[in-house]
Amino acid sequence: MAGSVGAAQAAPVPLPYCRAPRSVAAAAVVPPPQRPLLNPLQLARFVDPLPLPPAAQPVATRASPDNPGQMLPVYRLEQRAFEAPLHRDLKPARLWGYNGSVPGPAIQVQSGQGVFVEWVNALPVHHLLPVDRRLHGADGENPEVRTVAHVHGSKVPPESDGYPERWISPGSAAMLYYPNGQDAATLWYHDHAMGITRLNIYAGLFGPWIVNDAVEKGLGLPSGSYDIPLMICDRLVDADGQLVYPISAKPGQVWVPEVNGNVILCNGRIRPYIDVEPRRYRLRLINAANARFFSLGLSGDQAMQLIASDSGLLDAPVSMKSIELFPGERAEVVVDFSACAGRSLQLQNAADDILQFRVQDRKVEDPSTVPSRLRPVARLKPASARWDRLLTLGEMDDDSGYSTCMLLNGARWSDPVTEKPELDTIETWSFVNLTGDVHPIHLHLVRFQLVDRRPFDLFTYNLHRRVVYTGPAIPPAPHEAGWKDTIRAEPGMVTRIIIRFEGYAGRYVWHCHLLEHEDNEMMRPFEVLPHTRHA
Ligand code: C2O
Ligand code: CU
Ligand code: CU
Repeated sequence: MAGSVGAAQAAPVPLPYCRAPRSVAAAAVVPPPQRPLLNPLQLARFVDPLPLPPAAQPVATRASPDNPGQMLPVYRLEQRAFEAPLHRDLKPARLWGYNGSVPGPAIQVQSGQGVFVEWVNALPVHHLLPVDRRLHGADGENPEVRTVAHVHGSKVPPESDGYPERWISPGSAAMLYYPNGQDAATLWYHDHAMGITRLNIYAGLFGPWIVNDAVEKGLGLPSGSYDIPLMICDRLVDADGQLVYPISAKPGQVWVPEVNGNVILCNGRIRPYIDVEPRRYRLRLINAANARFFSLGLSGDQAMQLIASDSGLLDAPVSMKSIELFPGERAEVVVDFSACAGRSLQLQNAADDILQFRVQDRKVEDPSTVPSRLRPVARLKPASARWDRLLTLGEMDDDSGYSTCMLLNGARWSDPVTEKPELDTIETWSFVNLTGDVHPIHLHLVRFQLVDRRPFDLFTYNLHRRVVYTGPAIPPAPHEAGWKDTIRAEPGMVTRIIIRFEGYAGRYVWHCHLLEHEDNEMMRPFEVLPHTRHA
């Protein structure tokens, strides 16, 4: 199989375990010159082999915080600048990645097997992309380049969660502990630094984190080299093969409300290909885009078996011809290539090719299966909720119609914490979408279930701040009925989820996963309080 983008790397440079002084001067933001964009239709299709993220290798061991007699593996992921082409016929692009690859190395763990990751910030002191110094976290004396890694979907103590304000600057490192006490699921790690998350991820700071477990193993699903993560994102790329991040036309405002690209990258390449055997494969689809949703399907309308959503296996597989994924969401599908020997087919976003599968023309044994039952998903009951929270999603515009920021329940990041669930209790959160867009809402720490979506009257809400429903509640379709950690809050709807706050007490965040929104106030802290009652 092909190596990952730019996987060749220099020897790691040891760095001190301290936060660099916060003295890097607030550099003036220079807008990028308006460079001509690439015309992707002129690029040859399917000429690059699909890069597969290299498996991360432990570099040391360290005593478990939960059980000091037990030694746990330590991984080291260094964020650094490097160059790699996004396509065979393009010049190398300047990128930021973990250990010099985009996506970063794959971390694969067994459920319950704790690991440490030493996250090392070895980036330059100036950002690759235009920083908006007016955004919270990117303002004041804060260094221009800051990083903090978050493992999306992981159930971790608050110190390891990648709280957006716990960033480190170039020359610093953080050693974080991940217990992985959760069911098998496709997680992903990415940067989460306050006010520049959209830029850090856009530059390439993301990678896969896979949790496996015994239940999943017992199902006989395709595994090993037949189990492939596909991290899909879009980017604006210029005629020189370089990333472009646009800035606002509004004087004094750099931030733009959403960024959509002119190309789609699959594991860091434009329209790559992969040779596959005529048998079943498990594909882990991860939407790592800033703002674009993908409607993923196979050419020729071939069906895929959806087996898992964000936080793990569905109760039963669902046969689907296309799967919609918003930023932050994941889907695992099993695709059977056995009827396509000697042919090729494409993974597509609507009609746009993303990846070509070249199916070998031979016969192979395929011991894998997709059982008709996967893993029971016990439905949480709204009647068991301690608290029902009604939370609005809103957008603020200025007089000329430019969006200035997005707000959760009318509050900003720095307002006092208002969501304080108690550990081991259940709550329902209802997202009242007052905007015209879908917002994929993500909670850290927990997994949850969609209860329903219900249309409401926006006019009445704006007048009286009261939710009046205009139709019946719509329960989740089978593909959305499993465990989720990111949910689409649709316009005109109240989207209700049910959550059990499990694992740890402490400070976490919830936010919109459209990264431009998240960076401009559409993110709030929540605090899990230690539990007081004993059942
Ligand atoms: Cu994928 Cu708070 O993040
Ligand atoms: Cu997350
Ligand atoms: Cu949003």
